[in-house]
Amino acid sequence: MTVKLLAFAGSVRKESMNQKLLEQVVAQVKAEGAEVTLISLEDYDMPFYNGDIEAAGFPESVQKLKALFKSHDGFILASPEYNASFTPILKNAIDWVSRPMEGETPLQCFKGKVAGLVGTSPGKFGALRSIVQLTSVLASIGTLVLPEVVSVAFYKDAFNEDGTLKNDADKGAVERLAKRIVKIAAVK
Ligand SMILES: Cc1cc2nc3c(=O)[nH]c(=O)nc-3n(C[C@H](O)[C@H](O)[C@H](O)COP(=O)(O)O)c2cc1C
Repeated sequence: MTVKLLAFAGSVRKESMNQKLLEQVVAQVKAEGAEVTLISLEDYDMPFYNGDIEAAGFPESVQKLKALFKSHDGFILASPEYNASFTPILKNAIDWVSRPMEGETPLQCFKGKVAGLVGTSPGKFGALRSIVQLTSVLASIGTLVLPEVVSVAFYKDAFNEDGTLKNDADKGAVERLAKRIVKIAAVK
């Protein structure tokens, strides 16, 4: 059966470098034979998590995002780095999606799924600090996070004008992640 992966970035900025990186990863994952649903969190606009909002009923955007998580074998997340961590829009989405709706098993959207993490930043850490924290969060809620992460440092020098990666080491990391996530998602 074809592997189905959901992909989105933790930035909704028009010129997001993480979105550009994600698009290249998605192309590579498709080349490996997977089906990918690439979305922007901008299209799933949700309030900051608040138990009172949840008690009044899950927002439609959250319900739609949860349905997507459930219908995919795993996800590819592109994580920018804000103050050595991942972004609030990403955390908020994870928090909402982690909340159980009626009829769901606990953490159904995350348990047994596989995640590939990528990130880029203007600094020397290449969003790696955000990837490490994101790994910890996702692993805690039952997702198998692949060790083949893609971290692209000094993004001003790392990308061509058209948004493609310049150097072979980064392209190789994208290829390794793409191969691995398709392989693991197929057997998990
Ligand atoms: C609140 C805030 C904190 C940031 N902290 C870091 C940081 O710790 N390390 C880093 O390399 N870049 C940091 N940056 C710069 C972001 O990495 C940069 O804005 C990047 O372009 C965001 O990703 P995007 O291009 O996908 O939107 C920070 C930016 C903001 C707005």
